[in-house]
Amino acid sequence: DKGNHRHFMEKEIYEQPEVISHALSHYVDFAENTISTNAAAIDFKAASGLAISACGTAYLAGLVGKYWFERYARLPVEIDVASEFRYREMPLSPSQAALFISQSGETADTLASLRYCRENGLKIGAVVNVRESTIARESDAIFPIMAGPEIGVASTKAFTCQLAVLASLAIGAGKARGTVSADEERALVRHLAEMPRIMSRVLNLIQPQMESLSRELSKCKDVLYLGRGTSFPLAMEGALKLKEISYIHAEGYAAGELKHGPIALIDENMPVIVIAPFDRFFEKTVSNMQEVAARGGRIIFITDEAGAAASKLPTMATIILPVVDEIIAPMIFSLPIQLLAYHTAVFMGTDVDQPRNLAKSVTVE
Ligand code: F6R
Repeated sequence: DKGNHRHFMEKEIYEQPEVISHALSHYVDFAENTISTNAAAIDFKAASGLAISACGTAYLAGLVGKYWFERYARLPVEIDVASEFRYREMPLSPSQAALFISQSGETADTLASLRYCRENGLKIGAVVNVRESTIARESDAIFPIMAGPEIGVASTKAFTCQLAVLASLAIGAGKARGTVSADEERALVRHLAEMPRIMSRVLNLIQPQMESLSRELSKCKDVLYLGRGTSFPLAMEGALKLKEISYIHAEGYAAGELKHGPIALIDENMPVIVIAPFDRFFEKTVSNMQEVAARGGRIIFITDEAGAAASKLPTMATIILPVVDEIIAPMIFSLPIQLLAYHTAVFMGTDVDQPRNLAKSVTVE
């Protein structure tokens, strides 16, 4: 049932404040402001490293998770798309832990990666939406994302719920490893707790602007997304979402890679979507934006109030989000990315919930 939404995808985008709140309540004790993951089967404290494998959007959630596990838990992360991970013959040690991220829990390559890790003696955690799935069954610990059924083929609420769970696990791992103090834990958990409310506000705030911008995007043949830090996987997620449902060619790049190739593509016909909250990478990303502007590129700048005040560059559009802590920024900044792809596809008249050539669950290699 789509309720009063035109598509399941739209419904699922707007469900995010509610489902994120469910997901968090599974991992967070809001009375004490602490993380309370029931991860006994996985000893993050003793782990020498973490291997993560997944496909598509779930892989990109894992890539954001890598930044968090390394930063907050000082745990080195090895991550790859599952179709490569399973065949790379990488040396693994039983002292590493492994996480597999999958909405459906049935993705063939992700399952094969899981079995590869099992053969190598690693303890296995599954970040899944479907708790009765094969990947969940074959794991030592199940970390449910609690997103509820996701019908739209393009993943939206599963992505942000995966992020919420990975953030909680990374903070929990940091606590176990002594790299996140009790004070830091409380502060981080307070930020997580604010997230559903901020998401609701942002969804209402940006909707009209996303709709009008999508008219512009629908005329384009190519779009480039740029970001640094956790905004780099978001750039790739933005590009993936746009190409999947609108069939517009899009690429996501680390902003620092611009001058190593993609800058050759810049002209007035290819909008560049820059994702840059006012974080420690902001100045660097703005200098990449300058390089785009200097070559006549048109910029769609997704930033926050502080970033908008700090940059004087002319843009085609600036999407201004509230200033939020960096632990929740990837979830908040996912919203304009999802809505932009959604409205562009609606405007172009594609089959948003069932894009051509795609299947919701990829159970063959
Ligand atoms: C993108 C999308 C796909 C899936 C990928 C993995 O919007 O939905 O890229 O993320 O096929 O699927 P799961 O998470 O079920 O393993």
